[in-house]
Amino acid sequence: MRVKVGLIGAGGMGRRHLGALARDPRVEIAGVADTDEAAARAAADEFGGRPCRTVADLADLGVDAAYVTLPNAYHAAIALEAMDRGMHVFSEKPMATSLDAARRVAAGVRDSGCVYQMGFNRRFAPAYRYLKQEVAAGFVPLSANAKITDGDMLTPSWYINPALTGGFLYDCAVHMIDMVAWLVGPVRSVAALGRQSCYPDHDDIALLLRCEGERPVALTTCGHASWARPTERVELYGDHALLASEDMERARHTTREEP
Ligand SMILES: NC(=O)c1ccc[n+]([C@@H]2O[C@H](COP(=O)([O-])OP(=O)(O)OC[C@H]3O[C@@H](n4cnc5c(N)ncnc54)[C@H](O)[C@@H]3O)[C@@H](O)[C@H]2O)c1
Repeated sequence: MRVKVGLIGAGGMGRRHLGALARDPRVEIAGVADTDEAAARAAADEFGGRPCRTVADLADLGVDAAYVTLPNAYHAAIALEAMDRGMHVFSEKPMATSLDAARRVAAGVRDSGCVYQMGFNRRFAPAYRYLKQEVAAGFVPLSANAKITDGDMLTPSWYINPALTGGFLYDCAVHMIDMVAWLVGPVRSVAALGRQSCYPDHDDIALLLRCEGERPVALTTCGHASWARPTERVELYGDHALLASEDMERARHTTREEP
């Protein structure tokens, strides 16, 4: 039996997920919801399912699992509503745009017994999987340096509106914060410097993180860096050894003996 999936938020990312879901034989796309009727209809015509408007409409279609691919500020409320209606949830990052809302989602997952997955796609990318595998095999990151950049903050246009994004740190930087916690260890303290340079939000940010085991990590993010690659890079420093990745595909492990 196929899993009946409904998606809410038929924009750029929603359409990418629909493309992947449409290729998966385990999935039936039951419905595509969006407040923009034309967007819902165009996506449903292309990928399947009924065009609709709300998460309630998806529930009426008997959906088992909802994909939440809305602007950031709506993630938590819609994920909670979907779980209330008995649907498992895949949510794009970030989980929420406030700590309170994130805690409500965590409680909602516990209370409903639903499966909830965050869209931290880097955890499945070859470069980061390689780093994780080397760490699991014994590489100890003693400190690290990470960066992730955006070419601009105008695609889509709401990325410059902190009321919808939660702030620029909730954009691509959340991926890198997750990578640091995943690869180096839980973040125990943070110091931050931000600057508003080209957009009406802090778009140049430097974080100094202290991870478990007193490990220092420097993380920078910029919203106006051009699209030149690498747009993301991680360097983990071991005992006379380096694990480094560039974007999601390239990674290497060098040692004093094998430079
Ligand atoms: N994992 C990644 O690498 C990655 C990359 C890009 C975007 N994202 C995330 O994906 C999410 C969507 O981003 P996007 O670039 O697709 O945005 P988008 O603007 O292209 O799409 C958002 C869609 O949601 C619809 N919408 C807005 N409010 C709604 C509501 N209340 N109810 C129903 N529909 C509503 C809009 O009409 C639009 O079609 C964001 O959270 C973003 O952070 C993740």
